[in-house]
Amino acid sequence: MGPAPARARFAAGLFWALLGAALGMAGSRQETSLFKSLGLSAKPTPAAPAPVPSVLWRIFQGRALPPPGDRAPDRACRVEELNVPGNIIRVFADQGHFIHSGEPKTFLCLEKRLYFNFSVLEEGEQLTMAQLEINFSHNSYHTSSGGQVFELRLYQALQMSLRGMSSHTYNHKLLVAQSFAQLHKSLLFNLTEVAKGWRTPSKNLGLILEISVSSRDSAEALPPRRLQNLCASIDSFLDTSLLVVSLNQKQCQASRKRRSSYYTPVTPSNLCKPRRLYISFSDVGWENWIIAPQGYMANYCLGECPFPLTAELNSTNHAILQTMVHSLDPEGTPQPCCVPVRLSPISILYYDNHDNVVLRHYEDMVVDECGCR
Ligand SMILES: *[C@@H]1O[C@H](CO)[C@@H](O)[C@H](O)[C@H]1NC(C)=O
Ligand SMILES: *[C@@H]1O[C@H](CO)[C@@H](O)[C@H](O)[C@H]1NC(C)=O
Ligand SMILES: *[C@@H]1O[C@H](CO)[C@@H](O)[C@H](O)[C@H]1NC(C)=O
Ligand SMILES: *[C@@H]1O[C@H](CO)[C@@H](O)[C@H](O)[C@H]1NC(C)=O
Repeated sequence: MGPAPARARFAAGLFWALLGAALGMAGSRQETSLFKSLGLSAKPTPAAPAPVPSVLWRIFQGRALPPPGDRAPDRACRVEELNVPGNIIRVFADQGHFIHSGEPKTFLCLEKRLYFNFSVLEEGEQLTMAQLEINFSHNSYHTSSGGQVFELRLYQALQMSLRGMSSHTYNHKLLVAQSFAQLHKSLLFNLTEVAKGWRTPSKNLGLILEISVSSRDSAEALPPRRLQNLCASIDSFLDTSLLVVSLNQKQCQASRKRRSSYYTPVTPSNLCKPRRLYISFSDVGWENWIIAPQGYMANYCLGECPFPLTAELNSTNHAILQTMVHSLDPEGTPQPCCVPVRLSPISILYYDNHDNVVLRHYEDMVVDECGCR
């Protein structure tokens, strides 16, 4: 290793120190525009971060592996794991509340509004999938109610409800009615069509979830105490979330795959080529909101573009002429610049400004090839 890599390391260190300082200035224009290009209104400061849903971990980990050669799927525009177009996957936490409607209804265990704030979706995003997941925690497996059948009803709220109003006196649209045995740990519902309508904030009044003890199961015969126990086994362990996939065409450029040689070879040379640079997100103060990866091999371009330019230097006709002129008049005309000519994307798992967990594909994050331009 000659002095060049050391100088490069120093330069890179300085760059990140300056970037860190720039980002440290609260409200600075650089910070705002950088986060805007990442689809965020500001640097997220997750207050009570939710655990990362296992489906997102699975997809993220699948992507972290280097793709197997040319048969790698086109990850920029499709979520293969869910078989839908998209480059952004969000898991929205439910922000709704339980509804206490005064007079208790005999078989109704719980009534809850489900609300998912869609204001983080940007205008250019096309929603391609929305799936509601209702989880019953493991504790809810009560021996005394193992075989019990419950009934679930899911309504789309179409009109604002007033406090104290019973849910059935205003306008709801029944989306799903199904029975389930308590052995089920989670239930999934396809809400793609409903969620598309929620892009208009005034039309997003959420859902109403009702769970009752099945009356077909001769619940009338059940003593009230047993009914109460059955309901208690359901209602405090409910966890609902909405998985939403969307496609931002602008950030989805077709078929730009990561080169199979993942790391650039280290050969001592002063010629223009990619140099290794590992960016650690904690160095730039982003460790609180980026869940994974902790950093990545971003690389950068450095080196000479001397006369005569060879094919490996990926130059343009203009650059070839510029080196010729430079060789005749080194003072008056500089060498062409060594710049990235091929970049590839990475996936980042993070908390957005609303503490939702997001897995998003970002273009142009890794330098794969350099050229004299
Ligand atoms: C719901 O349950 C499924 C399977 O039991 C699990 O994979 C998933 O992570 C759970 N979701 C939440 C939000 O806890
Ligand atoms: C949704 O989020 C936006 C942006 O933070 C906020 O202004 C709005 O009040 C939220 N809506 C609801 C109903 O909580
Ligand atoms: C969900 O519903 C949409 C529209 O109704 C449909 O196009 C899509 O195939 C469904 N997805 C699944 C996984 O069933
Ligand atoms: C120029 O491109 C070729 C493939 O197109 C690549 O193998 C080579 O590494 C590139 N040169 C540099 C300096 O990155």
